[in-house]
Parts: sequence; C-alpha cells; structure tokens
Amino acid sequence: RTKLILDVDTGVDDAQGIMLALAAPHVHVLAITCTHGNTALDNSCRNTLRVLQACGKLDVVPVYRGSAEPLLGRVFQASDFHGKDGLGDAPDPQAPGLDLLQAEGAVEALLRLVKENPGQVNLVATGPLTNLALAVKLDPSLPEKLKGLYIMGGNTESRGNTTVCGEFNFVADPEAACIVLERFRCPTFIAGWEFSCRNKLPWSFCDEWLAQDTEKARFMAKIFKHTMEMIKTPRYQKELVAGSGFSSCDSYAIAAAIDGSILTETEDVVVSVELEGRNTRGMMVLDYMELLKHKHKATIMKKVDLDKFKRMMMDALK
Ligand code: BDR
Ligand code: CA
Repeated sequence: RTKLILDVDTGVDDAQGIMLALAAPHVHVLAITCTHGNTALDNSCRNTLRVLQACGKLDVVPVYRGSAEPLLGRVFQASDFHGKDGLGDAPDPQAPGLDLLQAEGAVEALLRLVKENPGQVNLVATGPLTNLALAVKLDPSLPEKLKGLYIMGGNTESRGNTTVCGEFNFVADPEAACIVLERFRCPTFIAGWEFSCRNKLPWSFCDEWLAQDTEKARFMAKIFKHTMEMIKTPRYQKELVAGSGFSSCDSYAIAAAIDGSILTETEDVVVSVELEGRNTRGMMVLDYMELLKHKHKATIMKKVDLDKFKRMMMDALK
C-alpha cells in the first residue's frame, strides 16, 4: 500500500485532493498535518476535520496542528478565493471541534511517522512549506527517509497568481519553500501553477462530477460553489492560462503521489526560490545551467493523463 502524509492548508482544492487520497484503493493516509495558508491555521485544521467527517474517516486519519505563520514575512491568505472560512463559507452546524486534533504537533508527528516507515512515505505538501522547512531543520536526514516529496507550488513561467511573479504557496512562505527545494534531495515532484492551469478539468466534467448522487458529491458542491463563482469573475479570468475550466491544483500533486503513471510529460530541473526581488519574492527559479550550489533536480510536472485524472476525481466522490 502507498503510504501518504498530507501537509495541507485546507481550502477547497486541498479538500478535493484529500478526498481523492481517501478514496484511492491501496492508499494508506498515515496522517494529515495542517499549516497556515489559504486560511488561518484554526480554519485549516477545522476544514480538514470536516473533510474527514464527510468521508466517514474521522476516526481513521489523525490530524495534527502545525505552524500558524510563515518563517519570516507577512501572513498571506486566500479568502477571496476559498471563502473566509477557507471552505466556501458554507458552514456545517455538525462540524467537528478542534478537540479532535492530536495533542502531538504536526512537525513532531511528521518526523516520527517518517522514521517509523523509512523509505515508504510519499509526503505531499499542498500549502505553504513552513512545516516541512521546520521538520528538515530539526532532522536534516528526513529527506533521505522519504520515498518521495510531492509539492503543489511555485511557477515555471513567472505568471503569478498572488504577486506579479509568485504562486500562492511559495509567496506565503518563500524562505520555507527555498529551504525545502534546496534541502530535500529525495525524488521531488512539483505541480506548479502554470502546469495546473494547462491541465484544467472542463466545466462539463465538473457538472458531471458534482451531479453524482452521493453525500460526498453534495458536500463538494456546497463547499465548491463560492470558488466556482470566483473563477468565472474578471479578476480570475486574468490569471487564466490556457482556456476555461478548473484546476484542482492540489489534487494533481496528490494524484501523482498515488499513481505516478498519471504524469505523461515531466522535466527534471534544479530549482530554487527568489527571496529578495521587489516583484519576484517567492517566485520559483529554474536553474537550467545548474549554477546554484545544490545540484538536486526536481521533476517538474508538465502534462497529466487527463482521462486517468478524471477517473480518480470521479471516484473521490463515489
Ligand atoms: C495553491 O494555493 C492555494 O490557493 C491552493 O490551495 C493551492 O494550493 C494555488 O496557488
Ligand atoms: Ca492548498
């Protein structure tokens, strides 16, 4: 069985990715660790618990509270896009309480679980990389104990979605992103912003996806409504790379960690993150000439097998 640890800032597409992982056969989600990001840390934790509840997995997957803020710099949130509560502002009166979180902290749990399962864990990060950066600072041998690292974040064509040149997860903690890209010398796969936009799911698929007659589909339709409306507004149409539809950004990283065969085109490049530029802080830099000191190449995702991805997404709501 593929063992996964998901490090999330549960907004709407994190929720989609988590549901995909929970539904996938032969996958064991060992833990979900939460970080700040799309929404404040408490919301991110609560939303994660809500997703588990919607999937009937509240007792099965432990959830850990992580970092509430980036290593340096200001806190970014994406409440316009994901709603003030990070999950479409469609509250559930029966939502689980934060008392269901584990007492152990996210970074400690991450280090412990990887140590207990050496060489077996695919770690997937779909929010700012603060927890991962702290973890590798505490235990520099963490990367060598992983099977792989899958990141949703960064950009490859300097098309920002948060700042002029920066993608949200990297902009929300550039130092952490830099530490992770330079220190995690394990097989590393990156689902960047432009890739996500170039592998959109058509709206016709979305209709079919949400129309499934299941509790999970009804939950998704409820939490996704606000974001779907936002994607269609002029502000978000400006960031449109390659046609209409929706990019479930975080789901690509999670899907690839479950089944690498969904990736039909990739490119291996040394990558890092710009920390100082006025317009470029948080931008991922691609070092084709290998001029940087760390020579570790990450695998940049370029194309997915959309039919296979659609099947995984469909199954997530069954
Ligand atoms: C990324 O930022 C968040 O808004 C999404 O959940 C995704 O992780 C896209 O830039
Ligand atoms: Ca996210």
